[in-house]
Amino acid sequence: MRALLYDRFGPPDVLHVAEIEAPHVTRGEVLVRVEAAALNPKDVLVRKGKFAWMSGRRFPKIPGYDFAGTVAAIGPRVHGFSRDEPVYGMINRWSAGACAEMVSVPADELAPKPRRLSMVEAAAVPLAALTALQALRDEARVSAGARVVINGASGGVGTFAVQIAKRLGAHVIAVCSRRNAALVSELGADDVCAYDERDVRELGGEVHVFFDVFGNQPYPKVKHLLSKRGRFVTTIPRPAAVARDVATRFTSRTARLVVVKSRARDLNLLRTWIDGGVLRPVVDRSLPLEQGVEAVEYLETRRARGKIVLTL
Ligand SMILES: NC(=O)c1ccc[n+]([C@@H]2O[C@H](COP(=O)([O-])OP(=O)(O)OC[C@H]3O[C@@H](n4cnc5c(N)ncnc54)[C@H](OP(=O)(O)O)[C@@H]3O)[C@@H](O)[C@H]2O)c1
Repeated sequence: MRALLYDRFGPPDVLHVAEIEAPHVTRGEVLVRVEAAALNPKDVLVRKGKFAWMSGRRFPKIPGYDFAGTVAAIGPRVHGFSRDEPVYGMINRWSAGACAEMVSVPADELAPKPRRLSMVEAAAVPLAALTALQALRDEARVSAGARVVINGASGGVGTFAVQIAKRLGAHVIAVCSRRNAALVSELGADDVCAYDERDVRELGGEVHVFFDVFGNQPYPKVKHLLSKRGRFVTTIPRPAAVARDVATRFTSRTARLVVVKSRARDLNLLRTWIDGGVLRPVVDRSLPLEQGVEAVEYLETRRARGKIVLTL
């Protein structure tokens, strides 16, 4: 099968397309014929070797956590899927593997593909939307009427976070650059704070939830904005964020670190919202697998609007 892979940790140009043996389906897994795979900043960190203790040092490595495609084979002890069924999902294992014609995935890390979406659009959903869902619903416990700030609202996670916070009934203040203000308003943001015109730290009024998606507004910088029982959530696993997550477990104001987990239950909920017309992915661009290096270089500019997807 064709796969985008790398034989050592390093910059984007360690990536190349090659023919390798397709994986076999094992117990509890589903073999997926991948049609589209989305990229995430996690792919960049792993390829640079920053999480070698999690991803392992075995090569070649295939990037890609997000995929959409059809079921090619079903392993023993898997129920509820049929051959050729369109599916989408996110791989939990750090060693990844979705940027390939075939990937074998535990059955609880995939779900039927949202009917409304193309394969490219469906691949853009899982990791980013699951992060937004798990951060806002589980860590921040957003409720109707809450005033919620999303910092980094125009990126992969942020575009879903704006829509999911609205779905949970929040008043959403989206932080992004001026050029993306119209996009986040279209997604449902009630107010936009363009960081190139105004400092979010000077925002007036109480904030119930501050979700720092981008990672440049850590808790100490924004805690003065939070209400007495306000909740802060970050996506960035810095040591200070981990320590604060533990230290604020029993305080009235909390500072959580979200760590995304692939779960069929949540993928099914997202599918329901998408097919019901309340959630949609924003795809900045889709490129063929052969242009993987170009796609990754663009991701690394950190200026993508929504998601970047590779097609197979
Ligand atoms: N802990 C977890 O489980 C988890 C899960 C998912 C992601 N993450 C992390 O979350 C971060 C965001 O992920 P992502 O997929 O959303 O990244 P992304 O799509 O690459 O983010 C790009 C966006 O960042 C925005 N941005 C750039 N500079 C900014 C600034 N100074 N202030 C606010 N926004 C700015 C850009 O908007 P403008 O062009 O408008 O500036 C762009 O739309 C990454 O560090 C990723 O590793 C962690």
